[in-house]
Amino acid sequence: MGAPERIDADVAVVGAGVAGLYAALTAAEAGARVAVISATPLAQTASYWAQGGLAAALAMNDSPQLHLEDTEAAGRGLVRRSAAEVLTNEAPEMILALQRKGVAFDADRYGNLALGLEGGHSRRRIVHAGGSATGRRVARQLSAVLVAQPGVRVLETTRAADLWIEDGRVTGVLCEDGPAVRARGTIIAAGGAAALWRRTTNPPGSLGIGLLLAQRAGAAIADLEFVQFHPTAVTGIPGREGFLVTEAIRGEGATLHGPDGERFVEELAPRDEVSRRMWEVMSESGTPSVRLDMRQVDATRFPNVVEALRDSGLDPATELIPVAPAAHYVMGGIVTDLHGSTNVPGLYAIGESACTGLHGANRLASNSLSECAVFGARAARAALDEPTPGPAGEPPAAQPIVVPARDTQEAMWRDAGLVRDREGLERLLGDSHPLARLVARCALMREESRGSHIRRDFPETDPALDLHHAVVTGDAPEFQLWR
Ligand code: SIN
Repeated sequence: MGAPERIDADVAVVGAGVAGLYAALTAAEAGARVAVISATPLAQTASYWAQGGLAAALAMNDSPQLHLEDTEAAGRGLVRRSAAEVLTNEAPEMILALQRKGVAFDADRYGNLALGLEGGHSRRRIVHAGGSATGRRVARQLSAVLVAQPGVRVLETTRAADLWIEDGRVTGVLCEDGPAVRARGTIIAAGGAAALWRRTTNPPGSLGIGLLLAQRAGAAIADLEFVQFHPTAVTGIPGREGFLVTEAIRGEGATLHGPDGERFVEELAPRDEVSRRMWEVMSESGTPSVRLDMRQVDATRFPNVVEALRDSGLDPATELIPVAPAAHYVMGGIVTDLHGSTNVPGLYAIGESACTGLHGANRLASNSLSECAVFGARAARAALDEPTPGPAGEPPAAQPIVVPARDTQEAMWRDAGLVRDREGLERLLGDSHPLARLVARCALMREESRGSHIRRDFPETDPALDLHHAVVTGDAPEFQLWR
């Protein structure tokens, strides 16, 4: 076999969800040569699946300060304020920038942006496109604009196998059975790791590949004990296990009911609280689900949810939907500063792959798509300031990334699920998958319950751990104070 093709770029982006697309587009619009490496066709990224919207303080009765306060309240004493300030201050302008790029957000009957409500938000501030098809609409439009830019190369169905490292600096990406991409700045935007858990709302490829690539290159990883379990994932319906019923539907009045038919939770509380109460009700009653009543909700606003439910034989206009929590979003990831920069020169991370501290212990709904664009733009600009690497030698051989076994997904669900304890987490330390072991180490070290991390054996929150993040630089995590 001959040497792989070599692509010379200014910026290499691993992943083509909203974060990767936005970063790539920002760099391309600045005149840079950009290579985007996507393991899936563009239409199968996690963003494409995202039903939620983009949170931004746009209403007359709203402000970035209120958005910040809600983000901090949901994050349960762990939000890094500087990161949340960046998001909440820049999100309104980012919505306008997306509109300028041709994204058509839903409007009310006066033609103003229609603002939705989701859990933990004190104001209507969620912008949608196509009702619950926001991720798809935004990703599709950004993809269309991106591929029309000169100097952009999109490598679809191409896997990043390794990072190209020279003298301690990341200088590009080595692809599996594909080209070697050399770049000044390499941005990991490969999504999260929620598909490591058996029951998940995520596409099967959300296995933390970006985290593993970065960690192997020496990047610090943090907050892996915090995975958000989305309350309303369909269960017990063949072929639809884990299908997400967007929280925006609860924002429009859908209610949750236990086996006795009674409501048991404030449906628009932050997600950690709703999922925990569901788990309690299900455990006490020995039932595998609770019921979502969306009969009063205007179904035309959420066409893809309603259509999927009807295809599975459930009519949400007349029936209650069986739902239970499922792994949805990993708050942890590759540690970055406010410009996506990691501790490894030349390497950046954005979107769900990154951990800026913005989400703390429990992400505020719909902050993540906004984060993708806000931090995607910042990282692209910073990556363009990197020096051009010197003349390249032969690309090194890539080390294959470990793919989790089905057993790992079962073990993650059982031992690092919504409620954990020392015994299960210690068992998980013996798992064959490196990320499973890292999740176990972080979760074992955090001897408290906070946000989405619920320890049966440590039910209280420890105020001494406020703002303390579990950071893994080698094998073992240690707490670091982030402000
Ligand atoms: C949802 O639509 O409920 C999910 C959105 C999000 O995770 O922010």
